[in-house]
Amino acid sequence: MRHFLRDDDLTPKEQHEVLDLALRLKQDRFAERPLAGPKTALVMFDKTSTRTRVSFAVGISDLGGSALIVNPGEAQLGEKESISDTAIIFSRMTELIVWRTGAHKNIELMAKHASVPVINSLTDDFHPCQVLADLLTVREHKDELQGLTAAYVGDAANNMAHSYLLGFATAGINLRLAGPEGYLPREDILAKAEQIAEQTGSTITVSNDPREAVTGADIVITDTWISMGQEAEEAARLQHFNGYCVDEELFGLAKDDAIFLHCLPAYRGFEVSAEVIDGPRSVVWDEAENRVHAQKALMVWLLRQAKQSE
Ligand code: CP
Ligand code: NVA
Repeated sequence: MRHFLRDDDLTPKEQHEVLDLALRLKQDRFAERPLAGPKTALVMFDKTSTRTRVSFAVGISDLGGSALIVNPGEAQLGEKESISDTAIIFSRMTELIVWRTGAHKNIELMAKHASVPVINSLTDDFHPCQVLADLLTVREHKDELQGLTAAYVGDAANNMAHSYLLGFATAGINLRLAGPEGYLPREDILAKAEQIAEQTGSTITVSNDPREAVTGADIVITDTWISMGQEAEEAARLQHFNGYCVDEELFGLAKDDAIFLHCLPAYRGFEVSAEVIDGPRSVVWDEAENRVHAQKALMVWLLRQAKQSE
Protein backbone atom coordinates (compact mmCIF):
# COMPACT_ATOMS: atom_id res chain seq x y z
CA MET A 1 0.00 0.00 0.00
CA ARG A 2 1.41 3.41 -0.98
CA HIS A 3 1.17 6.20 1.62
CA PHE A 4 2.29 9.85 1.63
CA LEU A 5 4.02 10.48 4.94
CA ARG A 6 7.12 12.34 3.74
CA ASP A 7 7.88 14.30 0.58
CA ASP A 8 10.31 11.63 -0.59
CA ASP A 9 7.52 9.04 -0.66
CA LEU A 10 7.04 10.24 -4.27
CA THR A 11 9.87 9.77 -6.75
CA PRO A 12 10.71 12.73 -9.02
CA LYS A 13 8.64 11.14 -11.81
CA GLU A 14 5.68 10.46 -9.51
CA GLN A 15 5.79 13.96 -8.05
CA HIS A 16 5.69 15.34 -11.58
CA GLU A 17 2.69 13.13 -12.43
CA VAL A 18 0.80 14.31 -9.33
CA LEU A 19 1.49 17.96 -10.18
CA ASP A 20 0.35 17.44 -13.80
CA LEU A 21 -2.85 15.91 -12.50
CA ALA A 22 -3.31 18.81 -10.05
CA LEU A 23 -3.05 21.32 -12.90
CA ARG A 24 -5.65 19.32 -14.87
CA LEU A 25 -8.01 19.10 -11.89
CA LYS A 26 -7.68 22.82 -11.28
CA GLN A 27 -8.99 23.35 -14.84
CA ASP A 28 -11.63 20.63 -14.65
CA ARG A 29 -12.72 20.36 -11.03
CA PHE A 30 -14.93 17.26 -11.25
CA ALA A 31 -12.87 15.29 -13.81
CA GLU A 32 -11.95 12.51 -11.37
CA ARG A 33 -14.54 10.84 -9.10
CA PRO A 34 -12.79 7.94 -7.32
CA LEU A 35 -14.83 8.51 -4.15
CA ALA A 36 -18.22 8.57 -5.91
CA GLY A 37 -20.88 6.81 -3.89
CA PRO A 38 -20.24 8.83 -1.77
CA LYS A 39 -17.44 6.87 -0.11
CA THR A 40 -15.96 8.21 3.13
CA ALA A 41 -12.48 9.63 3.68
CA LEU A 42 -11.37 10.21 7.25
CA VAL A 43 -9.60 13.48 8.13
CA MET A 44 -8.37 13.51 11.72
CA PHE A 45 -6.71 16.34 13.65
CA ASP A 46 -4.64 16.24 16.85
CA LYS A 47 -3.70 19.88 16.22
CA THR A 48 -5.84 22.79 15.02
CA SER A 49 -6.18 23.77 11.34
CA THR A 50 -7.88 26.17 8.94
CA ARG A 51 -6.58 25.40 5.43
CA THR A 52 -5.96 21.70 5.84
CA ARG A 53 -9.42 20.93 7.20
CA VAL A 54 -11.26 22.96 4.55
CA SER A 55 -9.07 21.97 1.60
CA PHE A 56 -9.41 18.24 2.33
CA ALA A 57 -13.17 18.55 2.93
CA VAL A 58 -13.66 20.43 -0.37
CA GLY A 59 -11.31 18.11 -2.27
CA ILE A 60 -12.96 14.93 -1.00
CA SER A 61 -16.37 16.29 -1.91
CA ASP A 62 -15.12 17.26 -5.43
CA LEU A 63 -13.90 13.66 -5.86
CA GLY A 64 -17.45 12.43 -5.16
CA GLY A 65 -16.84 11.44 -1.54
CA SER A 66 -17.80 12.47 1.94
CA ALA A 67 -15.22 13.79 4.43
CA LEU A 68 -15.50 12.65 8.02
CA ILE A 69 -13.67 15.25 10.09
CA VAL A 70 -12.47 14.13 13.53
CA ASN A 71 -11.32 17.09 15.62
CA PRO A 72 -8.70 17.11 18.41
CA GLY A 73 -9.80 15.01 21.36
CA GLU A 74 -12.83 13.44 19.64
CA ALA A 75 -11.53 9.88 19.10
CA GLN A 76 -10.57 7.20 21.64
CA LEU A 77 -7.07 7.28 20.18
CA GLY A 78 -4.35 8.05 22.71
CA GLU A 79 -4.45 6.61 26.19
CA LYS A 80 -7.63 4.61 25.57
CA GLU A 81 -6.89 2.92 22.24
CA SER A 82 -3.70 2.15 20.34
CA ILE A 83 -2.75 3.57 16.95
CA SER A 84 -2.48 0.05 15.50
CA ASP A 85 -6.04 -0.93 16.54
CA THR A 86 -7.35 2.41 15.30
CA ALA A 87 -5.65 1.92 11.93
CA ILE A 88 -7.41 -1.42 11.45
CA ILE A 89 -10.83 -0.01 12.42
CA PHE A 90 -10.52 3.03 10.15
CA SER A 91 -9.34 0.84 7.25
CA ARG A 92 -12.45 -1.36 7.57
CA MET A 93 -14.74 1.68 7.29
CA THR A 94 -13.08 4.34 5.12
CA GLU A 95 -11.21 4.70 1.80
CA LEU A 96 -8.31 6.76 3.09
CA ILE A 97 -6.92 8.24 6.28
CA VAL A 98 -5.63 11.82 6.49
CA TRP A 99 -4.03 12.65 9.84
CA ARG A 100 -2.45 15.71 11.46
CA THR A 101 -0.54 14.68 14.55
CA GLY A 102 2.63 15.41 16.57
CA ALA A 103 5.28 12.71 16.61
CA HIS A 104 6.04 11.46 13.11
CA LYS A 105 6.43 7.90 14.40
CA ASN A 106 2.67 7.93 15.17
CA ILE A 107 1.74 8.31 11.53
CA GLU A 108 4.32 5.70 10.51
CA LEU A 109 2.60 3.30 12.88
CA MET A 110 -0.83 4.21 11.50
CA ALA A 111 0.44 3.53 7.95
CA LYS A 112 2.04 0.24 8.99
CA HIS A 113 -1.29 -1.12 10.23
CA ALA A 114 -3.63 0.55 7.72
CA SER A 115 -4.87 -1.21 4.60
CA VAL A 116 -5.96 2.07 2.96
CA PRO A 117 -3.65 4.97 1.95
CA VAL A 118 -2.51 7.23 4.80
CA ILE A 119 -1.72 10.91 4.12
CA ASN A 120 0.33 13.10 6.47
CA SER A 121 -1.39 16.45 6.85
CA LEU A 122 1.38 17.72 9.19
CA THR A 123 3.55 16.16 11.85
CA ASP A 124 6.25 17.78 13.98
CA ASP A 125 8.78 16.70 11.33
CA PHE A 126 7.08 17.14 7.92
CA HIS A 127 4.23 18.91 6.09
CA PRO A 128 4.41 17.29 2.65
CA CYS A 129 0.90 18.25 1.43
CA GLN A 130 1.82 21.89 1.89
CA VAL A 131 4.97 21.49 -0.19
CA LEU A 132 3.02 19.80 -3.00
CA ALA A 133 0.74 22.87 -3.06
CA ASP A 134 3.79 25.13 -3.04
CA LEU A 135 5.31 23.26 -6.00
CA LEU A 136 2.04 23.61 -7.90
CA THR A 137 2.07 27.35 -7.17
CA VAL A 138 5.66 27.70 -8.36
CA ARG A 139 4.84 25.77 -11.54
CA GLU A 140 1.98 28.17 -12.26
CA HIS A 141 4.16 31.24 -11.76
CA LYS A 142 7.49 29.99 -13.13
CA ASP A 143 6.60 27.08 -15.49
CA GLU A 144 9.65 24.85 -15.14
CA LEU A 145 10.71 23.84 -11.59
CA GLN A 146 14.05 22.29 -12.48
CA GLY A 147 16.92 24.72 -11.96
CA LEU A 148 15.04 27.39 -9.98
CA THR A 149 16.60 28.65 -6.73
CA ALA A 150 14.59 28.97 -3.52
CA ALA A 151 15.66 30.62 -0.25
CA TYR A 152 14.01 29.59 3.02
CA VAL A 153 14.69 31.98 5.90
CA GLY A 154 13.81 31.35 9.55
CA ASP A 155 13.19 28.14 11.49
CA ALA A 156 15.22 25.73 9.38
CA ALA A 157 14.59 22.90 11.86
CA ASN A 158 10.79 22.79 11.60
CA ASN A 159 8.39 20.62 9.60
CA MET A 160 8.22 23.05 6.66
CA ALA A 161 12.01 23.29 6.33
CA HIS A 162 12.31 19.50 6.37
CA SER A 163 9.59 19.12 3.76
CA TYR A 164 11.18 21.78 1.54
CA LEU A 165 14.46 19.89 1.76
CA LEU A 166 12.96 16.63 0.51
CA GLY A 167 10.22 18.00 -1.76
CA PHE A 168 12.29 20.66 -3.52
CA ALA A 169 15.25 18.30 -4.02
CA THR A 170 12.79 15.85 -5.61
CA ALA A 171 11.59 18.62 -7.94
CA GLY A 172 15.16 19.66 -8.87
CA ILE A 173 14.88 23.09 -7.20
CA ASN A 174 18.08 24.45 -5.61
CA LEU A 175 17.45 25.25 -1.95
CA ARG A 176 19.30 27.65 0.35
CA LEU A 177 18.25 27.43 3.99
CA ALA A 178 19.19 30.18 6.45
CA GLY A 179 18.45 29.88 10.16
CA PRO A 180 20.10 30.71 13.48
CA GLU A 181 22.36 28.19 15.24
CA GLY A 182 20.19 25.62 17.00
CA TYR A 183 17.45 25.95 14.35
CA LEU A 184 19.09 24.10 11.48
CA PRO A 185 17.78 20.91 9.82
CA ARG A 186 18.07 17.42 11.20
CA GLU A 187 21.21 15.72 9.88
CA ASP A 188 19.47 12.58 8.58
CA ILE A 189 16.88 14.60 6.64
CA LEU A 190 19.55 16.88 5.20
CA ALA A 191 21.60 13.83 4.15
CA LYS A 192 18.55 12.26 2.45
CA ALA A 193 17.77 15.53 0.65
CA GLU A 194 21.39 15.78 -0.54
CA GLN A 195 21.18 12.26 -1.89
CA ILE A 196 17.99 13.12 -3.85
CA ALA A 197 19.49 16.42 -5.02
CA GLU A 198 22.43 14.53 -6.48
CA GLN A 199 20.01 12.49 -8.60
CA THR A 200 17.94 15.49 -9.73
CA GLY A 201 20.93 17.78 -10.32
CA SER A 202 20.02 20.38 -7.69
CA THR A 203 21.99 21.90 -4.82
CA ILE A 204 21.38 22.52 -1.10
CA THR A 205 23.13 25.00 1.19
CA VAL A 206 22.57 25.63 4.90
CA SER A 207 23.84 28.81 6.60
CA ASN A 208 23.17 31.48 9.21
CA ASP A 209 23.15 34.20 6.54
CA PRO A 210 19.68 35.24 5.27
CA ARG A 211 21.15 37.86 2.90
CA GLU A 212 23.41 35.36 1.18
CA ALA A 213 20.51 32.89 0.92
CA VAL A 214 18.07 35.39 -0.63
CA THR A 215 20.46 37.13 -3.05
CA GLY A 216 19.43 36.27 -6.61
CA ALA A 217 16.75 33.75 -5.54
CA ASP A 218 13.64 33.04 -7.66
CA ILE A 219 11.52 32.07 -4.65
CA VAL A 220 11.69 33.40 -1.09
CA ILE A 221 9.96 31.49 1.70
CA THR A 222 9.47 31.72 5.42
CA ASP A 223 7.26 30.15 8.10
CA THR A 224 6.29 30.96 11.67
CA TRP A 225 9.10 31.03 14.23
CA ILE A 226 6.83 29.29 16.73
CA SER A 227 5.20 26.13 15.40
CA MET A 228 2.24 24.41 17.03
CA GLY A 229 3.44 22.81 20.27
CA GLN A 230 6.38 25.24 20.74
CA GLU A 231 4.38 28.01 22.44
CA ALA A 232 6.32 27.68 25.72
CA GLU A 233 9.55 28.59 23.88
CA GLU A 234 8.13 31.85 22.53
CA ALA A 235 10.37 34.31 24.41
CA ALA A 236 13.62 32.50 23.57
CA ARG A 237 12.63 31.97 19.96
CA LEU A 238 11.73 35.63 19.40
CA GLN A 239 15.20 36.52 20.61
CA HIS A 240 17.01 33.92 18.50
CA PHE A 241 15.17 34.82 15.28
CA ASN A 242 15.92 38.51 15.56
CA GLY A 243 17.28 39.54 12.12
CA TYR A 244 15.46 36.78 10.22
CA CYS A 245 12.35 38.74 9.22
CA VAL A 246 11.66 38.70 5.46
CA ASP A 247 11.14 42.44 4.99
CA GLU A 248 11.33 44.68 1.91
CA GLU A 249 15.06 45.12 2.30
CA LEU A 250 15.81 41.39 2.47
CA PHE A 251 13.28 40.46 -0.25
CA GLY A 252 14.82 43.21 -2.40
CA LEU A 253 17.97 41.09 -2.73
CA ALA A 254 16.05 38.38 -4.61
CA LYS A 255 15.50 38.51 -8.39
CA ASP A 256 13.14 41.25 -9.62
CA ASP A 257 10.55 38.66 -10.55
CA ALA A 258 10.97 36.59 -7.37
CA ILE A 259 7.83 35.30 -5.68
CA PHE A 260 7.12 35.05 -1.95
CA LEU A 261 5.61 31.92 -0.34
CA HIS A 262 4.33 31.30 3.19
CA CYS A 263 2.26 28.27 4.20
CA LEU A 264 0.18 30.42 6.61
CA PRO A 265 -0.87 31.24 9.26
CA ALA A 266 1.52 34.23 9.11
CA TYR A 267 2.58 36.59 11.86
CA ARG A 268 3.13 39.98 10.23
CA GLY A 269 5.96 41.93 11.82
CA PHE A 270 7.73 38.76 12.96
CA GLU A 271 8.87 36.27 10.27
CA VAL A 272 7.56 38.51 7.44
CA SER A 273 6.65 42.19 7.06
CA ALA A 274 3.15 43.20 5.97
CA GLU A 275 4.67 44.95 2.92
CA VAL A 276 6.12 41.68 1.63
CA ILE A 277 3.27 39.27 2.36
CA ASP A 278 0.61 41.74 1.18
CA GLY A 279 2.78 43.02 -1.67
CA PRO A 280 2.53 42.38 -5.44
CA ARG A 281 5.05 39.53 -5.55
CA SER A 282 3.44 37.50 -2.77
CA VAL A 283 1.56 34.43 -4.07
CA VAL A 284 0.30 33.19 -0.70
CA TRP A 285 -3.39 33.17 -1.69
CA ASP A 286 -2.70 31.01 -4.76
CA GLU A 287 -0.61 28.81 -2.49
CA ALA A 288 -3.47 28.40 0.01
CA GLU A 289 -6.02 27.62 -2.75
CA ASN A 290 -3.62 25.14 -4.30
CA ARG A 291 -3.88 22.95 -1.23
CA VAL A 292 -7.23 21.82 -2.66
CA HIS A 293 -5.91 20.99 -6.14
CA ALA A 294 -2.63 19.38 -5.05
CA GLN A 295 -4.33 17.19 -2.43
CA LYS A 296 -7.07 16.13 -4.84
CA ALA A 297 -4.39 14.96 -7.27
CA LEU A 298 -2.54 13.17 -4.49
CA MET A 299 -5.72 11.38 -3.34
CA VAL A 300 -6.60 10.32 -6.91
CA TRP A 301 -3.04 9.06 -7.44
CA LEU A 302 -2.91 7.11 -4.15
CA LEU A 303 -6.36 5.58 -4.67
CA ARG A 304 -5.26 4.44 -8.15
CA GLN A 305 -2.16 2.82 -6.70
CA ALA A 306 -4.29 1.12 -4.02
CA LYS A 307 -6.65 -0.24 -6.68
CA GLN A 308 -3.76 -1.56 -8.76
CA SER A 309 -2.33 -3.38 -5.75
CA GLU A 310 -5.66 -5.10 -4.88
N1 CP B 1 -0.79 25.74 6.10
C1 CP B 1 -1.58 24.97 6.88
O1 CP B 1 -1.42 23.76 7.00
O2 CP B 1 -2.58 25.66 7.50
P1 CP B 1 -3.57 25.12 8.61
O3 CP B 1 -2.75 24.86 9.86
O4 CP B 1 -4.57 26.21 8.80
O5 CP B 1 -4.20 23.85 8.12
N1 NVA C 1 5.44 25.10 11.09
C1 NVA C 1 4.04 25.38 11.31
C2 NVA C 1 3.26 25.08 10.05
C3 NVA C 1 1.78 25.40 10.16
C4 NVA C 1 1.02 25.04 8.93
C5 NVA C 1 3.51 24.55 12.48
O1 NVA C 1 3.85 23.38 12.57
O2 NVA C 1 2.78 25.11 13.29
